[in-house]
Amino acid sequence: MGSTNDVARRLVEDGAPEGTVVVAESQTRGRGRQGRRWASTPGKSLLFSLVLQPDLPPLELPKITLAAAVAVARTCQIFRIEAGIKWPNDLLVGGRKLCGILTEMTPKKDKMSPVVLGIGINLHQTARDFPSELRSIATSCYLVTGRKVKKISFLQELLRELETGYGWLTRGDFDRVLVEWRKYSVTLGSRVQVNHANGIFTGKAFDIDGMGALLVRNDNGTVERVLSGDVKILETKGFNQIKLKRQDAKSAKKG
Ligand code: BTN
Repeated sequence: MGSTNDVARRLVEDGAPEGTVVVAESQTRGRGRQGRRWASTPGKSLLFSLVLQPDLPPLELPKITLAAAVAVARTCQIFRIEAGIKWPNDLLVGGRKLCGILTEMTPKKDKMSPVVLGIGINLHQTARDFPSELRSIATSCYLVTGRKVKKISFLQELLRELETGYGWLTRGDFDRVLVEWRKYSVTLGSRVQVNHANGIFTGKAFDIDGMGALLVRNDNGTVERVLSGDVKILETKGFNQIKLKRQDAKSAKKG
């Protein structure tokens, strides 16, 4: 299909309920954040969109993306893949992108209208499956582990994790999402370059606040609160820092 997000949006307009999932083997018009394209070799990625009807004000949309990133990180852990979250919505392994998340909605006045949460995960790609310009910045579960994770199994575990994270969020326990997010973050503690509406600056990312904004101590000493924008990690505390312990993997599975 063109894009799972577009198909999901059309289904919502026709009354599709919360929990509707659209999965594609391949997309001809996959979309990324900020108008970018999301390219994928047919059959090698997990590409899907999930319809949500959260009872939250539109300003809280970023929280859904953070909860989704946590769900992907926990799912990766179940499959023994050590993925870290780069704020707000990228999953990286060894500094390379494994997964992207695109959360979209058409805001109504003060209530959130249905949200389409789109997730793309590189599962089975070899290096040659990526276009040359992405080869040094993208990775796949196969490249990381040498194993081919079953697509349906990954999707099932991920939907379970999404349900858990979305449950925390909708029951008003965003703190639980934050605790998990901090655990998997490769952004916090790193030197970053932030590219946002008001320009570019560099500094050290030190926390995330109760609205999901990234807190960065600018090199000039001031604290910046970044709610949207692109973050580039300049120096990290170490991409290999997230070490999996068996126990952690078990508790992630139990939720
Ligand atoms: C990003 O990193 O910029 C977000 C990429 C999101 C890609 C997924 S693939 C499934 C869903 N359908 C789309 O068209 N985009 C998202």
